Amino acid sequence: MNSQATLQTALNHRSIRKFTEQAISKELLNTLIQAGQMASTSSYLQNISIIRVTDKTKRAHIREVCVGNGKGGHHYVENCAEFLVFCIDATRHLHFVPDAQIGWTEVLLIGAVDAGIMAQNVLLTAESLGLGGVFIGSLRNNLNRIAEILEVPYGVVPMVGMCLGYPNQEVGQRPRLPIDLIMSENRFQAADKDALNAFNDVVKDYYQQRSQLDLSWQEQIRNNLGGEVRPDILAFLQKQGFAKR
Ligand SMILES: Cc1cc2nc3c(=O)[nH]c(=O)nc-3n(C[C@H](O)[C@H](O)[C@H](O)COP(=O)(O)O)c2cc1C
Repeated sequence: MNSQATLQTALNHRSIRKFTEQAISKELLNTLIQAGQMASTSSYLQNISIIRVTDKTKRAHIREVCVGNGKGGHHYVENCAEFLVFCIDATRHLHFVPDAQIGWTEVLLIGAVDAGIMAQNVLLTAESLGLGGVFIGSLRNNLNRIAEILEVPYGVVPMVGMCLGYPNQEVGQRPRLPIDLIMSENRFQAADKDALNAFNDVVKDYYQQRSQLDLSWQEQIRNNLGGEVRPDILAFLQKQGFAKR
């Protein structure tokens, strides 16, 4: 397998949402999953399971959840070569220790961090091998429905999905905050307000140039965090045995 260097791959990242029809071979998929599995895992708990969704009807139902109240979009959930769902999974721990205390919020955080690390290992490796992909957090729009579609039992929480395939689009890179705004030394330092505002303009220019969209970073933040954010999540987590205390 010809793989691009890690640094080059990481610096070239952009989410890919349009894919060719080309399938991902079983061998390649296994390689990606192995690369994901070898990610560090908190306390060696290995608390992530992956559900590979190949059933077209299930993909269509998951897409409905991702779209939420919107009118369309997320076609890539149906059209990608592989759709993976990364789940926090305590069932293996409950097998060995039936009274394992998975209800502590810390256990949920351990799982959420591990899921992100493993999934990013998969995506980075995929990108290094010429594939592209995108995370799908919008499946958390309705986790009860996702749990029903994927037949998820007690002790399991679907955290994030991922579309993978061979890219069929050229996309520009989304700008990131300057390093000075995200890193400080020895103590937390709040971001400089002028520099933050300048970044807001960078994002505005980016959207103007990319798609003649009149959108700033501030507006994006307001759209995402300006109101209720998936308020049903806590009840779902608790039903699955997590985040009770
Ligand atoms: C945890 C997570 C969840 C995401 N969920 C979605 C999603 O549901 N739909 C989508 O189109 N993109 C999703 N994305 C992709 C982000 O929108 C994208 O990473 C971000 O805008 C930066 O763009 P880039 O990845 O091209 O640099 C998600 C990314 C992350 C890390």
